[in-house]
Amino acid sequence: MAEIRLENISKTFNEDCVVKNISLTIKDGSFTVLVGPSGCGKSTILRMLAGFEQQTEGNIWIDGKLVNDLAPSKRDIAMVFQNYALYPTMTVRGNIEFGLANRKVPKIERQQLVDEIAGIVGLTDHLNKKPDKLSGGQRQRVALARAMVKKPKVFILDEPLSNLDAKLRTQMRTELIELHERLGTTFVYVTHDQVEAMSMGDEIIILNKGEVQQKAAPIEVYQNPGNVFAAEFIGQPPMNVFGRDAFESVLEEVPEGVSSIGFRPEHAELALETRNVPHMAELESEIVTLETLGAETVYKVKNRIGMMNIRSFSTPIPSRGTCYVSIPLEKLHPFAADGSAVPDTDLSANKEAVLHGVR
Ligand SMILES: Nc1ncnc2c1ncn2[C@@H]1O[C@H](COP(=O)(O)OP(=O)(O)OP(=O)(O)O)[C@@H](O)[C@H]1O
Ligand SMILES: [Mg+2]
Repeated sequence: MAEIRLENISKTFNEDCVVKNISLTIKDGSFTVLVGPSGCGKSTILRMLAGFEQQTEGNIWIDGKLVNDLAPSKRDIAMVFQNYALYPTMTVRGNIEFGLANRKVPKIERQQLVDEIAGIVGLTDHLNKKPDKLSGGQRQRVALARAMVKKPKVFILDEPLSNLDAKLRTQMRTELIELHERLGTTFVYVTHDQVEAMSMGDEIIILNKGEVQQKAAPIEVYQNPGNVFAAEFIGQPPMNVFGRDAFESVLEEVPEGVSSIGFRPEHAELALETRNVPHMAELESEIVTLETLGAETVYKVKNRIGMMNIRSFSTPIPSRGTCYVSIPLEKLHPFAADGSAVPDTDLSANKEAVLHGVR
């Protein structure tokens, strides 16, 4: 088990600063997920933690120890990559055992350890097979087992599920969560998939362009996004965010300092008739498209605020055409000009429900 601390970490490649002065603590025993768009610096951060890349500036502590000058093999970290190349000529047992190869562990002990780990990841019946006889999920488990035999203080996983199909990915997600609970080791997990981040992490770090946008528990990121980037990154479809002007025609008063306002597609309600509910801004709207997903329907609608997504769990409205969208005022998220959330701004002070025409 180990806490990881990054202090003023920067990384520059050919004068291009891809990680910008990041300071953060990854809690001992946590399942911390680094999430962000392609190229935002996720893998670079992992590689610096593992020691495969040297930071340009800053300090890294693992379990209270400064590891800046420590070789990867001395950091007590095991890393699982997206492309977890297994040795094709070795059996599953051989592949897992290989992680111990240069550790001078006695043979009997090695066998016991491999048996134990194989049991944990559900590979006991496959130990004598070669990788080409395994499914994608089983291969992924071999890669995990190979990392696990080292009994590391920290697991680092860089998009380990992205080669798997959707169903297997969901299954492996659950297995990884269970594995983490059983081992109690610190997991640092990288993904660009926000659903994966939300479902797996007990802490999420949202990155963009080499900078931390928000670090919080998933539910906190969802309920109180720290800025527009975090608000739009988490949630599917993403939060609807519009400029102050768009809302000025709908709300009685938009406080100073508020430059844009967002609300989640699932917090708005859609009806065929006007309802005039208090504490809701009601907008006459046109349904542009609708996606019926079974349990839910996602509508794209147009109204005087703009084009927005509405996610509804009621029976789908069969036809396109006019509808009424109600947005609860207490669910509005105000943001400042720099994109940061404006705390303690209660837009629900705009008490009255207002009906607005399409134009
Ligand atoms: N060895 C390198 N030399 C030069 N530039 C690099 C090197 N490694 C990464 N970069 C650059 O650093 C930036 C961050 O890359 P990184 O691989 O960390 O992104 P990422 O968040 O992991 O993206 P992805 O989701 O696509 O894997 C990118 O712009 C990339 O081109
Ligand atoms: Mg990457």
